[in-house]
Amino acid sequence: MLMNYVSPARSIRIEQASLEDLERMYELERTCFGRDAYSKQFLRLLLIDPSSIPLKAVTGEGEIVGSAIGRVEKIGGRVVGHVYTLDVRPDFRRRGVGAALLKSLENEFRKLGCERAILEVAVDNEPAIRLYKSLGYTFASRLKDYYGRGRDAYRAEKDL
Ligand SMILES: CC(C)(COP(=O)(O)OP(=O)(O)OC[C@H]1O[C@@H](n2cnc3c(N)ncnc32)[C@H](O)[C@@H]1OP(=O)(O)O)[C@@H](O)C(=O)NCCC(=O)NCCS
Repeated sequence: MLMNYVSPARSIRIEQASLEDLERMYELERTCFGRDAYSKQFLRLLLIDPSSIPLKAVTGEGEIVGSAIGRVEKIGGRVVGHVYTLDVRPDFRRRGVGAALLKSLENEFRKLGCERAILEVAVDNEPAIRLYKSLGYTFASRLKDYYGRGRDAYRAEKDL
């Protein structure tokens, strides 16, 4: 697989994650999403699923400060890369880590034959929406109650 992509945030490397990283990735997921975080069990499934691409952003000291997980899926006869989660530790935000993780995921999707990347994002998640727009995603549709009653999402997509 990749890796060793160095993000613009100096000395942060993007590497493939594994089941060994489950605890730290779950902690990060909780930090980023609170009660809306994926369960540890679901993260475990994503980490072991052969269709998944789990990535981590690691400091020189070996700390995990970001993560992203995508899956290669067949939707409507097309092979697409579905972004499941993108997390950056609050004290490492606005340094390019999120963008580096997403670009790395897109590269992996391309290598695996994906024609398009898709993702969902809460309609009020301004930082994430700005990040996705800056990387060329278009907001195709609004998914009513996607995150629960009264909590809509946008479906965003990008041709790879
Ligand atoms: C969304 C998230 C992953 C962004 O990570 P990040 O490492 O801070 O993002 P980057 O530094 O790579 O930002 C790249 C660009 O995105 C936009 N952006 C990111 N965060 C932003 C913010 N808080 N306000 C405005 N624009 C923002 C900017 O255009 C930024 O470029 P710039 O810093 O040169 O202006 C991070 O805020 C996060 O983990 N949030 C909580 C979890 C989450 O919502 N994940 C997405 C779920 S769909």
